[in-house]
Amino acid sequence: MDELKELERLRNELHLHNHHYYVENNPRISDREFDILMRRLEELEARHPEAYDPNSPTQRPGSDIAKGFTQAAHIYPMLSLANTYSIEEVDSWVQSVDKLTGAAHTALCGELKFDGTGISLIYEHGRLVRAVTRGDGEKGDDVTTNVRTIRTIPLVLHGEGWPEFFELRGEIVLPWEAFNRLNAQREEAGESLFANPRNAAAGTLKLQNSAEVARRGLDAYFYYLLGEDLPYTTHFEAMEAVRSWGFKVSDAMTLLHDIPEMDAYIRHWDEARHALPVATDGLVFKVNNLAQQSELGLRAKSPRWAVAYKFAAERALTPLRFVSFDVGRMGIITPVANLEPVLLSGTIVKRASLHNEDIMNALDIHEGDSLYVEKGGEIIPKITGVDAAARIPGAIKVKFVSHCPACGTQLVRVEGEAAWVCPNKWGCPPQIVGRIEHFVGRRMMNIDGIGEETAKALYEAGYVRNFADLYSLRAEQLLTIEGFAEKSAERVIDGIRRSTEVPFDRVVYALSIPFVGETTAKKIARYACSIDRLMAMSRPELEAIEDVGPRIAESIADYFATPVNREAVERLRAAGVQMEMSGDAAAGSLSDSLAGKTIVISGVFSKHSRDEYKQLIERHGGKNAGSISKKSSFVLAGENMGPAKQEKAQSLGVPLMNEDEFLKLIGEQ
Ligand code: IVH
Repeated sequence: MDELKELERLRNELHLHNHHYYVENNPRISDREFDILMRRLEELEARHPEAYDPNSPTQRPGSDIAKGFTQAAHIYPMLSLANTYSIEEVDSWVQSVDKLTGAAHTALCGELKFDGTGISLIYEHGRLVRAVTRGDGEKGDDVTTNVRTIRTIPLVLHGEGWPEFFELRGEIVLPWEAFNRLNAQREEAGESLFANPRNAAAGTLKLQNSAEVARRGLDAYFYYLLGEDLPYTTHFEAMEAVRSWGFKVSDAMTLLHDIPEMDAYIRHWDEARHALPVATDGLVFKVNNLAQQSELGLRAKSPRWAVAYKFAAERALTPLRFVSFDVGRMGIITPVANLEPVLLSGTIVKRASLHNEDIMNALDIHEGDSLYVEKGGEIIPKITGVDAAARIPGAIKVKFVSHCPACGTQLVRVEGEAAWVCPNKWGCPPQIVGRIEHFVGRRMMNIDGIGEETAKALYEAGYVRNFADLYSLRAEQLLTIEGFAEKSAERVIDGIRRSTEVPFDRVVYALSIPFVGETTAKKIARYACSIDRLMAMSRPELEAIEDVGPRIAESIADYFATPVNREAVERLRAAGVQMEMSGDAAAGSLSDSLAGKTIVISGVFSKHSRDEYKQLIERHGGKNAGSISKKSSFVLAGENMGPAKQEKAQSLGVPLMNEDEFLKLIGEQ
């Protein structure tokens, strides 16, 4: 492939992964896979200096900036750490440090690498004044209100000797116990689960409702003190002072002097970490002397004076049998490595996703190669490398397919994305079967007794070609399908009948609207209240819904503009499926006290979430708008409304209304 093209695509892909990681708190690939892509991009950029771009992911850390928070600039940029994966890599870092400091053995400090979300705290005169997320490294989200709920963070400092003004960096974590409790509650409520404590901590910190943040039980550990003219000579000493002011500083912090000591430290914590109350994903080694730290200085994205060591996941080496290409219900083609079965962390692994063409190419897989499979903190096995030294001479490189393996249609690549898609939405069997399977799923229409095989058989027999056909399915037809007897067939028919009682938000999720996951489906269903309203909503109206950006709005509008989908909706409606919110959740009109008013919501609220306010506006006859204009009637302003918005409102003469005034206006207070 043309290297410049590959470079451009890697940049786009890494930007997207940064977004999944920092903004959605839902990474699609492991840190290791991310590093592989990043290293390849660095290599290509080194070969092509003409393609320099200050916005390249190699130049900038990812961003966690979310909607609904005011942003604050960092005084010192918030960098990340370079990763190492072996004692050899640690050794070469130590050597580079020794070379730069001129010391024979630069004193180092070893610490745990907490697996949460980074935070910067500002203290003035012994009081917490601001808490900001890493954001894009230059500026982050002001999450002070939420951070104040964390009981282990002193709002007023203990002890003495603290500088009048300082910044403290640390990690907000959700301890295992709180994480397990939260996921158990979410499971019970039928909500999606957090993949790991890191995502849960990051997601919790970005909630709009501080009371809920307080309930979840976040904790925090601190590892970096910044300020002007600090009276400490070493990092260790500074951290001991931080501990004496009332912060949690890990007891694992130790001074280390040479590679054998570092190696022993790594071995110890690789085991001992399993007994810790919080998740860790590695260790951090730092130059202890602060004067040496400033001498060593910073690179673009990470300091030279510190490095992370990532714990190795359990790994196995096994021969590749072949690469197959799965077609998902949205038409996305996923390459899958089919392996000689191998035992890994107690389970047998036979298949592992290669995610997309770029990741597959970066791995450089050839026919007959042996692949490294790993299981990290998450349960899904991942291919992390190839044993290139053992490659069969002359082996052919595995290529991505150009045509859909199921229906033969030429694949298309979505602009700026890594995924290849089969565009034959209505004629490609696995896509249709996938949508039927999704429709009957437990979290959607909850129709028991139809798994992957049955969905496929029903499709192949011509009984169900679209999920709406399920409602005309007869028991006699099911009986012709292998494995069905009278009782099991009756049970399925009964399940289909009962599915007409499934609430509207789950129906919206069941429809397989591209990019609309469970949470978004709930939000749009509760906002729109009925399918008729949802189908009639314009893109700007859709974008006023929390979590709905231009891409999702376009996808929803396109979905309902497609005749096949509208027809399916009408058939579901005729079968009695719920097409509006019912009961308490129903957003039937409450009053017309806001009729004719266009309202912009900004800031953080304490009595209702932003989403609830949006609903209240609609239910009282008002309209939501995403940005302030001459047409805005007023801004419903919460805490921490951004200065730019305040200025805009003022210059256009749009009044601000606070939460209490608004609740009075609609008669809730
Ligand atoms: S030092 C300038 N120490 O890991 C470097 N970071 O992958 C300041 N982290 O952004 C960071 N434990 O959010 C440092 N003991 C520790 C850490 C730690 C976790 C996080 C931190 C950082 C990320 C880099």
